[in-house]
Amino acid sequence: MASVKISHITKSFGDNPVLKEFTDTFRDGEFVTLLGPSGCGKTTMLRIIAGFEKPTSGELYLDDRLVSGGKTFIPPEKRAIGMVFQSYAVWPHMNVFDNVAYPLAIRHTAKSEIRNSVDRVLDIVHLKQYAERFPNQLSGGQQQRVALARALVAAPGLLLLDEPLSNLDAKLRESMRFEIKEIQKKTGITVVYVTHDQTEAMAMSDRIFLINRGVVQQSGPPEDIYNRPANQFVADFLGKVDFFKGIAEDGRIVIPSMEGQVLPYKGSLRGNVDVAIRPENILFQQDGEIRGTLEAHYYLGDVDDCRVKVGSETVRVIADGYAHASLDSRKEVRMHVRDMMVFKDDGTLDEILMIRT
Ligand SMILES: Nc1ncnc2c1ncn2[C@@H]1O[C@H](COP(=O)(O)OP(=O)(O)O)[C@@H](O)[C@H]1O
Ligand SMILES: [Mg+2]
Repeated sequence: MASVKISHITKSFGDNPVLKEFTDTFRDGEFVTLLGPSGCGKTTMLRIIAGFEKPTSGELYLDDRLVSGGKTFIPPEKRAIGMVFQSYAVWPHMNVFDNVAYPLAIRHTAKSEIRNSVDRVLDIVHLKQYAERFPNQLSGGQQQRVALARALVAAPGLLLLDEPLSNLDAKLRESMRFEIKEIQKKTGITVVYVTHDQTEAMAMSDRIFLINRGVVQQSGPPEDIYNRPANQFVADFLGKVDFFKGIAEDGRIVIPSMEGQVLPYKGSLRGNVDVAIRPENILFQQDGEIRGTLEAHYYLGDVDDCRVKVGSETVRVIADGYAHASLDSRKEVRMHVRDMMVFKDDGTLDEILMIRT
C-alpha cells in the first residue's frame, strides 16, 4: 500500500502547458480517479506518477519518499508500481501463467515463489482455471484480467490504470468496473484510475479529480461533485444537465425564454443567473409549476427520454419508464422541478446549493 503526495506539479511540453499546479495527497488504500475530456492531461499525470515523465516543476512523493523533484528522479522500475493501459498487451505466445509470471521471472525470483504469487493473483482475478490457456483462447475481459494480474503479481502498493476498459464492449465494461473495485478492496491497494467516462468514475471512485485543460476543477467523492458542482463545467461534465438564463428576484427566478415562467427560489442572488436542471429532476405532475408541450419521447425501457417545448426552450425530462403509457406527443404537460442548481454570472455555484422544493 502506498500514498501519493503531489505537490505543485506542473508540466509543459515545449510552451504547451498541460498540467497546472496539481497538489493533493492520495491516501493509502484510496481509489482515486482522474476524470476529464480527452487531452486534459490525465495520462500525463499518470506517467509522472509512474516515472515515465518528469514534471516541469513540483515534487512527487510515494509513501513520503521523494521520487521526483529538485535533483531527485527515481526511475519507474524502482518505484514498485503496477500499471495497466488501454492496450493491455498480453503476450500472445505465452500462456496465462507465464504472462502473469513474467515480471517475477525477469527478476530471477525462485520458482516456488513465482508459483505461489501467480496462483494468488489468478485467484483474485478469477482466472485460476485458465492458467494454461493462451490469450487467443480468452475473451477481451479475460485478457484484461490477465493484464491486471500481471500488474498485481509483484504486490505493488500502487496500481495505475489508464482507461483499462475502453477496448471492451459496454456490458463487459460494466462488470469489469465491479471486478476492479473488488480487487482493490481485497488487496487494499491504492489505485489511480484514468478515464474520460463519468459513469465509470462515479461507480468506482472514493474521490474523483475532474480536470479540464490541465487544471483540477473539483475533487471529492462522487456524490459531492455530482450534487455540489463547483462550476458549470463540472455540472455539465458529470451527468446530464440543461442550462437556462434566468433573472433572480425575491422568492423566484423568472426564465424569459420560457415565456416568463417562474421557478420558486429561496436563494440570495438577484439579477442574471444561470439555472441548471438535471433532466431526472423534472417530474410530470398535474399541479407542476411549468407548463409545456410534449414534443417527443423515446422509450428506453427503464426510462422515457422526453423533450418538452417550453416557450423557445426545449427541456429534457427523463421520466420513469412506467410513465410511458400516459405520455402522448403534442400534449400539454405540467412539470415540477424538484431540484435545480443556480449559478452566478461568473459560472460558480450559488452558496444556496441544490434547491429542493
Ligand atoms: N510527449 C508529448 N509531447 C508533446 N505533447 C504531449 C506529449 N504527451 C502529451 N502531450 C499533450 O499533452 C496534452 C495532454 O495529453 P494527455 O495527458 O495524453 O491527455 P489525456 O490523457 O487527458 O487525454 C495533449 O494536448 C497532448 O497532445
Ligand atoms: Mg489519456
